[in-house]
Amino acid sequence: MTDAAAVAYNPFEPGFAENPYDQYRAMREQEPVHESPFGIWLLFRYDDVLRFLRDPSLSVEDANARPTMLDQMADEVLGADRDKEMGTRAMLNRDPPDHTRLRKLVSKAFTPRRIENLRPRVQELVDQSLDKAADAGEMELVGDYAFALPFAVISEMLGMPPTDADKLREWSGTLVRTLEPVADPELMLAIRDAGENMRGLVTDVINWKRENLSDDMLSALIAAEENGDMLSDDELIEQVELLYIAGHETTVNLIGNGTLALLRNRDELERLRNDPSLDAAAIEELLRYDPPVQMTRRVTLTDVEVGGKTIPEGVFVVCGLASSNRDEKHWGPTAERVDIGRANAKEHLAFGGGAHYCLGAALARLEGQVAIGSLVRRFSTIEPIAEPEWNGRLNLRGLEKLPLEVRP
Ligand code: HEM
Repeated sequence: MTDAAAVAYNPFEPGFAENPYDQYRAMREQEPVHESPFGIWLLFRYDDVLRFLRDPSLSVEDANARPTMLDQMADEVLGADRDKEMGTRAMLNRDPPDHTRLRKLVSKAFTPRRIENLRPRVQELVDQSLDKAADAGEMELVGDYAFALPFAVISEMLGMPPTDADKLREWSGTLVRTLEPVADPELMLAIRDAGENMRGLVTDVINWKRENLSDDMLSALIAAEENGDMLSDDELIEQVELLYIAGHETTVNLIGNGTLALLRNRDELERLRNDPSLDAAAIEELLRYDPPVQMTRRVTLTDVEVGGKTIPEGVFVVCGLASSNRDEKHWGPTAERVDIGRANAKEHLAFGGGAHYCLGAALARLEGQVAIGSLVRRFSTIEPIAEPEWNGRLNLRGLEKLPLEVRP
């Protein structure tokens, strides 16, 4: 590690939550393959990240990584004898053959046709929120809109009974911190508690659903669990947790960060307002420009050469999706600009890649297109009435609050 790189990549630096992109650029230039002091490696360039995402010889299973300082800290804080299998059974954390089996079971609900069938319902939910905002003359973009939509949609798809949305939001907001490459003891304990609460709730919901089967995703997964050896009890719980959390903790950032990017680039906002045929392209560009998930990870099973360095076997490699999305080597000199007509925007890595490519991508695109397109066309005035508040996360980085004045 060079001194320059040590200075360049410091997620604790004030202002990082608001804008990590200057550090990403410095890392692409100075040390695009970087070993962090925690023993984790990070990749910042598009080509390296894409190669890692698609490489089937890499793993996503924690058990294949040698313990790092963070694992030692977790043993001290949470006890070395805790159930380390807990939380490792979701498809996102499994290699084949488990990954293949789990993904196949769930993917039936996410075919393009099934997702497109949801469009009228998504539009209805969006219009209800916009009606309320129109009456009030203002809206809090994140809580009232960006979070409410994907939360309602995934709850309905799964067939969840009405639950305490605030509690759930609090727990899942804490739980997703496990996706961060840093942790402190207090946070580790909070994550454990949130995990137990979430598991308790999902178990109750599954038990309720067993008595109330219907034409929804949860019923289909329960049927798979009951009709043979396709899905164990623990696997069922963890797929539901994953879908539930991935279903709303990510799209909220697409709608929040995407809207903010347009508010800061008014010409592009006007362009979108005047041309609905740009809705799909605009969402790809917003996913590229400020992606809801900043990074994903792979684990090396052998030594791997990349960018003139050797990453040893058994190491966590953080793949910088957000950094890749601004890599001038791939995107050219306009990489740092918002251009909703960018011809190759769809090459962004916001949804990861390879076997783990986001299963919910079509749903997220649909929600983003309807939410952002409808918002900019419903109101001629959309003005922030306070500075945006960020959620302080390194990975699922997004807005916590953005109050807006809106007028037709
Ligand atoms: C804009 C919104 C979203 C973004 C940016 C996003 C991003 C991602 C990323 C980066 C991954 C990991 C890919 C990898 O490691 O290669 C992923 C996986 C996944 N996502 Fe999403 N996601 C979004 C919305 C959703 C939604 C709405 C759902 C479901 C309702 C969903 C379900 C999943 C699932 C199940 C996986 C695991 C796939 C696997 O391991 O095979 N995501 N997503």
